[in-house]
Amino acid sequence: MFSITYKALTFVKKYTLEILIHSLSELDDAMPVLADALGSRRKIALYGNLGAGKTTLVQAFCRWLGVEDTPTSPTFSLINEYGYRDTDGKLALVHHLDLYRLKNEQEAFDIGIEEVLYDPWYCFIEWPQVVEAMLPEETVKIQLDILSETARRLLIL
Ligand SMILES: Nc1ncnc2c1ncn2[C@@H]1O[C@H](COP(=O)(O)OP(=O)(O)O)[C@@H](O)[C@H]1O
Ligand SMILES: [Mg+2]
Repeated sequence: MFSITYKALTFVKKYTLEILIHSLSELDDAMPVLADALGSRRKIALYGNLGAGKTTLVQAFCRWLGVEDTPTSPTFSLINEYGYRDTDGKLALVHHLDLYRLKNEQEAFDIGIEEVLYDPWYCFIEWPQVVEAMLPEETVKIQLDILSETARRLLIL
């Protein structure tokens, strides 16, 4: 099983949730824990090196939400949009951004990023550094670290 640690970071006066995933097969089990930690917050900035598991995490979260397919919008290749049914059966959306190739904030504006940062839907952002100044205050920052070939640490900041 994955393990969870609550740490009181008194020096920054906020709580951090650490989720240790020992292998890929445990990732799905961690999704309800992650969803619980997110609460009503819908904007998630994902930090971590190439291969840390950012995309894999978004895929697992989408599976947990009940997203059936993961279509890629050809018009906005940097912004993927997935649909799922919420608990009331209404259509809801997940936006998934990979900003690795984005050079500056202007490019982010140009592809319409503020819209997905300020709408009511889930929005996961890989490589969020370039849009950090644009992120809503409630954005949840998650740091992913590689512990071994199969193990990852998720730090919810
Ligand atoms: N526990 C784990 N959680 C997430 N990914 C894992 C885990 N163990 C191994 N992996 C592998 O690590 C790679 C992560 O790749 P990816 O999600 O594309 O990373 P990123 O988007 O951060 O560059 C995938 O090949 C995945 O199968
Ligand atoms: Mg990725």
